Order: sequence, then C-alpha cells, then structure tokens
Amino acid sequence: MVSGTGSNLRALLEAHDDPAYGARVVGVVSDRPGIRALEIAREAGIPTAVVALRDFEDRAAWDRATAEAVGVFAPDLVVLAGFMKLFGPDFLARWGGRIVNTHPALLPSFPGAHGVRDALAYGVKVSGCTVIVVDEGVDSGPIVAQVAVPVEADDDEESLHERIKLVERALLVDVVGRIAREGMTVDGRQVRLG
Ligand code: GRF
Repeated sequence: MVSGTGSNLRALLEAHDDPAYGARVVGVVSDRPGIRALEIAREAGIPTAVVALRDFEDRAAWDRATAEAVGVFAPDLVVLAGFMKLFGPDFLARWGGRIVNTHPALLPSFPGAHGVRDALAYGVKVSGCTVIVVDEGVDSGPIVAQVAVPVEADDDEESLHERIKLVERALLVDVVGRIAREGMTVDGRQVRLG
C-alpha cells in the first residue's frame, strides 16, 4: 500500500524478481491517484487500485472499501510502503496481525506523519527507521526491526530523510522476505521472525 514516491515499493519489486526471495507483490493499493508509486507498479505489470477518501461519505466507508480493495488481491501480508493514512476498525478486523509498516524514525520516539522533522527539531544525534506490526494506534504496534542512522550536523529534513530511506528500503525488503520465508510470531509486544 502506497501514498507517495514508491521508493520502498520499487525495492520490493526488485527483490521479488528473484524467486528465492520468497515474497511476491500481488497488488498495489493507493489512497491517492496519480502518484509515482502507482506508475512504478504499472511499469512492473502489477495490478493497482486507488481508494481515495474524498470519494466516500465518511472515513468508515473508505476504511471498508480499502479492506475490500486489498482483499481482491488475497495477500498473505499487507505491506505499508509509505502509506500515509490510518486504518479504522473494519480494516484492522480483517487484516490485523498481517500488516507491517515502515516509519522513518526510531519508534517509540517521533511517531506520526513528520517523524524526520520532529526528530531533527528535538535535536537527536541518532535517528533511523522502524518496521512495526500495525495496530490501532499511530505507529504504536510491536517492533519487528530497527536500524539506526546518525544525524549529521548540517542535516535538514530532506537530507536526513533521504539517508534514512536508503536504509529503510533495505530493512523493509529484508523483513518482508524473512516473514515470507520463515514466518512471524507476535506475542504481545514481542515479535519473532523465523
Ligand atoms: C518513507 O520514509 C516512509 O516511511 C514514509 O514516507 C516515505 C515513503 O517513501 N512514511 P516512498 O513513497 O516509498 O518513496
């Protein structure tokens, strides 16, 4: 699932070309039409669907339609690869426990839509990225994996985010492949791969 430029999606698509990777992208769902991530999916021959909030009378209806759109592809795992909306109870009832998300900060610090900006404003010297299992909160689910990225003295939001994204896409590709090949067990806040 995507909302943006699709660099994480592109990395997943490059990985899935190798049968030994174990995971295959079966479909891409976006909440926004016209984004680069959808073009990347189409160029790779992956079917896409767009479910835009503005086309629904309320958030609950959008949430149900999004759950349905994902269901068309019958995935084993839902990967939020830069998807920027929160799910409601209907989506989580159907897909909960099978959704992973990537976040450009070291959770539980700096959750939300501006993790990179907030970490810089706080003045941290190390930030990074986190892959979580999605729950009903904002970036609050159990942590699957993290990688640290040092903050440079002259970093701005863009430069730090670009460096984090390099590490983030490698981490997401690694985690998704391991879940596909070895499985994932979630016990409270403890997540085990393999
Ligand atoms: C990633 O850093 C993701 O964690 C954040 O937005 C970025 C998405 O990048 N929420 P892309 O769309 O995969 O290029």
